[in-house]
Amino acid sequence: MQDIREKILKAYHENEGNVISLLQDIEESFGYLPQDAIDWFSEQLDIPPSRFYGIATFYAQFHLKPRGENIITACCGTACHVKGSERLINSLMRELHIPSGEDTSEDKKFTVEKVNCVGACSIAPVVIINKEVHGKMTADRLMKEIRKIK
Ligand code: FES
Repeated sequence: MQDIREKILKAYHENEGNVISLLQDIEESFGYLPQDAIDWFSEQLDIPPSRFYGIATFYAQFHLKPRGENIITACCGTACHVKGSERLINSLMRELHIPSGEDTSEDKKFTVEKVNCVGACSIAPVVIINKEVHGKMTADRLMKEIRKIK
């Protein structure tokens, strides 16, 4: 972890100190923004942690909790909602044993993220599985796709 942090710190100094790109590098290296990494950079750079957290919570691309190996993004926008996205999401959470209020399975294999309109309403309901877009999704097809990576 130390080596990775030193490398990111060096890149930060070389790139004229952009806090957003620093956070992007941390997220890319660790898969999320670990609190101890934020604390470490805060100390090294003399930037209050609140500045990092302010940016991290503003942009959806940043995550403060570890995420699963497989990321499933379920669209909950209006068009997808009308076409039954809620039912799809409920069956997904049951299949992956993700407790209510959580978004990641206990074994850290899956994270289900709910987002508003992904911009593909004509093929609603839309589910993105590890960056692959699946339109006109049905519960059967969704379960088949999930079982392939389970
Ligand atoms: S509402 Fe789901 S893609 Fe637009």
